Amino acid sequence: MKKAEIIIDKYFLTGDVDKRIYGSFIEQLGRAVYGGIYQEGNSNSDEQGFRKDTLKLVKELGVPIVRYPGGNFVSGFHWEDSVGPKAQRPARTELAWKVIETNEFGLNEFADWSRKAGSDVMMAVNLGTRGPEEAKNLLEYCNFEGGTYYSDLRRAHGYEKPHQIKVWCLGNEMDGTWQMGHKTAGEYGRIASETARLMKWLDPDIETVACGSSGLAMPTFGEWEYQVLDECYHEVDYLSLHQYFGNRSDNTADFLAGSKGMDDFISGVISLCDAVKAKKHAKKSIHLSFDEWNVWYHSNEQDKKIRPWEKAPHQLEDVYNFEDALLVGSMLITLLRHADRVKIACMAQLVNVIAPIMTSDTGAWRQTIFYPYMHASAFGRGTVLQTQIKAPVYESQSYGAVSILDSVCIWDQQAEALTIFAVNKDLTEDAEVTCDLRQFEGYRVKEHLVLTHDDLKAENTEAAPDTVKPSCSQASRLDHGKLTMVFGRHSWNVVRLEKER
Ligand code: AHR
Repeated sequence: MKKAEIIIDKYFLTGDVDKRIYGSFIEQLGRAVYGGIYQEGNSNSDEQGFRKDTLKLVKELGVPIVRYPGGNFVSGFHWEDSVGPKAQRPARTELAWKVIETNEFGLNEFADWSRKAGSDVMMAVNLGTRGPEEAKNLLEYCNFEGGTYYSDLRRAHGYEKPHQIKVWCLGNEMDGTWQMGHKTAGEYGRIASETARLMKWLDPDIETVACGSSGLAMPTFGEWEYQVLDECYHEVDYLSLHQYFGNRSDNTADFLAGSKGMDDFISGVISLCDAVKAKKHAKKSIHLSFDEWNVWYHSNEQDKKIRPWEKAPHQLEDVYNFEDALLVGSMLITLLRHADRVKIACMAQLVNVIAPIMTSDTGAWRQTIFYPYMHASAFGRGTVLQTQIKAPVYESQSYGAVSILDSVCIWDQQAEALTIFAVNKDLTEDAEVTCDLRQFEGYRVKEHLVLTHDDLKAENTEAAPDTVKPSCSQASRLDHGKLTMVFGRHSWNVVRLEKER
């Protein structure tokens, strides 16, 4: 048995959890929309064609904000195609994913769906093939009360009240050569600045997100952040980060070490934001929007076989296994450990496309990665405590020395509840982990939830949807202020404590 210690102090706080850290993402891509959240005529759909079984699972996750409509898709999107009477909406060639987009589902439908899901919309504008003018028009359509061309167009489309969308992404992954309208950092920084200026003149209450790097491995990383912010620092509120991981060489220890890469990425971007802040003698800090994160690799080969110009093909449909859930748990812990600067994060994506929820014509089910996301969203609200870890390390191929234990403690002062999230990455040994809780007098262990499976490659499918699911453990006890927890080899753990009443 490995031994480790978690050290917290109730006066040493990282910061409050912004609930938007549990955000997600729906792109007009594959079966995320068509057959995922929307399917006219399906017996599981409501009067608007929204899949009720999907909505139920989205609500279980408690998703506070959903980014839309892309992703790469947005960089060629004509938002005007997606509104108004459905019969008049044009079908278009969609170049990002080489499919036909019918526009049967568009931005008003998404606003309706989000309301039903209990989520806010985080809207992205097209800064690939379009610019500030079209972004400003879209904002007017969405947020302006009435009496102008675009706000009255919305009303004519049956939406009397504005959608009041607060968070706006200024394009998507503009550093990537795969992006329609790809730009250099200088070009993008200028257009982001001008777009944000117009948009904020129209609606000063909105917040804007500038595109950061599409991954830590981008050759322009660093230079990109610095130059972009140098152009648009005063006009934007957040800088984005995107990162996906894959176990391509079937090296689980190295794969699970990916959260160290994510942590390095976040720390690096914070330094870059603060360097520009210092240079500009600015008062405000730029916060981070980690608006695409997940595991993505299982579907790569299959996707190469898709013929171009299909409608809503099975695309990016990763079937997740148990080890993916462990990394997702570690990624959530990493985001929370940076809660002082990471205010928005979106698991990419939500349904069918690299997603925690899968659907078929006959039902919807939870992938393995659903569970850590659901646990974090349900129990990870409050204030993040600075969480020091004393644990053995292992040498990973890609990230150097990595702790076997990822963990973070969150204290909900109002509810007098303390939650510890932890991943034991050790593949062979359990870990006995202690934590001095004498400052939390009167607390008791409420429950210890565990997600584990003997087979790291175990999956949930429609036929066997409960192969990997959480269970309750008795392996935590609190004795005279000393908490002792046993985290099984390769396991995700949620230890919940509350004050005895
Ligand atoms: O989430 C899938 C794709 O990944 C998004 O469209 C793009 O932004 C990223 O490269």
